Amino acid sequence: MDTRTARRKFLQYLAASPIFAAESPLITNPAQAISVFDFEPVARKNIPPAHFGYLSTGVDDERTLRANQEAFARLQLRPRRLIDVSRIDTSVELFGVKWPTPIFLCPCGNQKAYHPDGESAVARAANGRPTLKILSTVATVSVEEVTRAAGRPVWQQLYPTSRWEVGERIVRRAEAAGCPVLVITVDLVGDRNAETAKRSVANDSRQCASCHPVPTFSGRKPSFDGIDTTGLSMRSPNFNWESVRRIRAITKMKIVLKGIGTHEDARIAAEQGIDGLIVSNHGGRSEDSGRASIDCLPEVVDAVRGRMPVMVDGGIRRGTDIVKAIALGASAVGIGRPYLWALGAFGQAGVEKVLDLLRIEFELAMKQCGARSVAEIKPAHVTRG
Ligand SMILES: Cc1cc2nc3c(=O)[nH]c(=O)nc-3n(C[C@H](O)[C@H](O)[C@H](O)COP(=O)(O)O)c2cc1C
Repeated sequence: MDTRTARRKFLQYLAASPIFAAESPLITNPAQAISVFDFEPVARKNIPPAHFGYLSTGVDDERTLRANQEAFARLQLRPRRLIDVSRIDTSVELFGVKWPTPIFLCPCGNQKAYHPDGESAVARAANGRPTLKILSTVATVSVEEVTRAAGRPVWQQLYPTSRWEVGERIVRRAEAAGCPVLVITVDLVGDRNAETAKRSVANDSRQCASCHPVPTFSGRKPSFDGIDTTGLSMRSPNFNWESVRRIRAITKMKIVLKGIGTHEDARIAAEQGIDGLIVSNHGGRSEDSGRASIDCLPEVVDAVRGRMPVMVDGGIRRGTDIVKAIALGASAVGIGRPYLWALGAFGQAGVEKVLDLLRIEFELAMKQCGARSVAEIKPAHVTRG
């Protein structure tokens, strides 16, 4: 080989190397995105460092955060052949409402930290691509405005907070706004050690008084309009099954518990007549057990024995992940960070593109499995090798 050919080959080799792929130019509009991962570096560039750190963080060593995604890689699909998959139905039904796909938008707080339109942009995307949206207690847009932007009722997530009457007002307001389902998050009872978030705050020199005015960051959220939030905390370490019963007594909304991960808790929930569960570890933001939510799903599904829908979130980034979760018994799957990256990158259009990409990938994975409907995705479609 002459020197010039050798040089050309060496340059071609370098260009194909993953080291340089990481340096590839950022996408400049949502249409260029090939996977949900294309939005992350754009969001990192657009969002102030402290806010991006809050978005990305897990807790402690971030073992749970990593496990959520890695566990999907350990699960394998079992493709099936010679089935006519020219027509695919990706729809699911949850509490009597039909959705075009099993994908829902997880409750994630503080979305104006990523884009000036915050939850309104996400709600408009959920309107354009009819998708179930769960609104966080610490959203930066009110439940009434988000419901209007979504064009349909959203589900309300509840942090019961440190004062019963505050949680009660949020519940009553959500019901009045037409929310059919209350999602009580039960996995963030104490405080948490969000190290990446702490480090990114230390590396952000901006004076962020516009984001964090007195009395508290949470205190000025629309959920707390008209409420004296002095001394209020989002944590409620004394919240227990009796508290859930008290909430049940004040609302007609269905009650879903978010953050269940064991068969013991799932069984109690079923005995208590809870309407649904979300197997979740808060995207690795509440504990560092190292246990992925997809690995918790089977024991919860077994314990529930079909008495209520079991949903799952955490680490879902691909259509194949959605098929795996459904094969293991999930009725629907939630995404968090992928749509936040897209929001931070391009607002509403970014979130729409994330929903499009995941739907297309999901359809392809269904076809590979010979599953023509979500109901045809069976446990036999997945194996641990
Ligand atoms: C920035 C951020 C904020 C979040 N805020 C909330 C919240 O307010 N309430 C809640 O129940 N879960 C919250 N979560 C957890 C998500 O609802 C969801 O469980 C998680 O993001 C799913 O994992 P994924 O990000 O890997 O998709 C938040 C997650 C992130 C990333």
